[in-house]
Amino acid sequence: MKIALASDHAGFELKDFIGSYLSQNHFEILDLGTSNCDSVDYPTFADKMTHCILNHQADLGILVCGTGIGISIRANRYKGIRAALLYSDDVAKMAKQHNNANVIVFGGRTMDKYDVLRRIDIFLNTRFEGGRHQNRIDMLDL
Ligand code: RB5
Repeated sequence: MKIALASDHAGFELKDFIGSYLSQNHFEILDLGTSNCDSVDYPTFADKMTHCILNHQADLGILVCGTGIGISIRANRYKGIRAALLYSDDVAKMAKQHNNANVIVFGGRTMDKYDVLRRIDIFLNTRFEGGRHQNRIDMLDL
């Protein structure tokens, strides 16, 4: 499974922490930046991620900004992107079961890094339920 990562400066440290964890667990990683703590604009990195996912260059995207909010808003403006901000363990499970999120999002300034790793594991180990949830997903794009 190939996982793409992207963040702004406020998410840079958490993005790297996530990348190391996933590499150690034998996932293939595609790092779309940013590559340091210099100030950048989060929509740029949401755009890089959405292009990557919509062009099938990765199976899942992980985005990080300060709160996870701005980068989620931008990513969700693209048809076919279902970006979910995983603010709890229950939400991590539901984001796969019900929403089949193709991008998961975290807040580098608002979340504990070990909570984030646990939520990634929960998401990866949960299955999409399909059925009525697929019907609703089919209704999402305008
Ligand atoms: C950057 O300062 C910050 O605004 C950004 O990372 C994010 O939290 C926006 O939603």
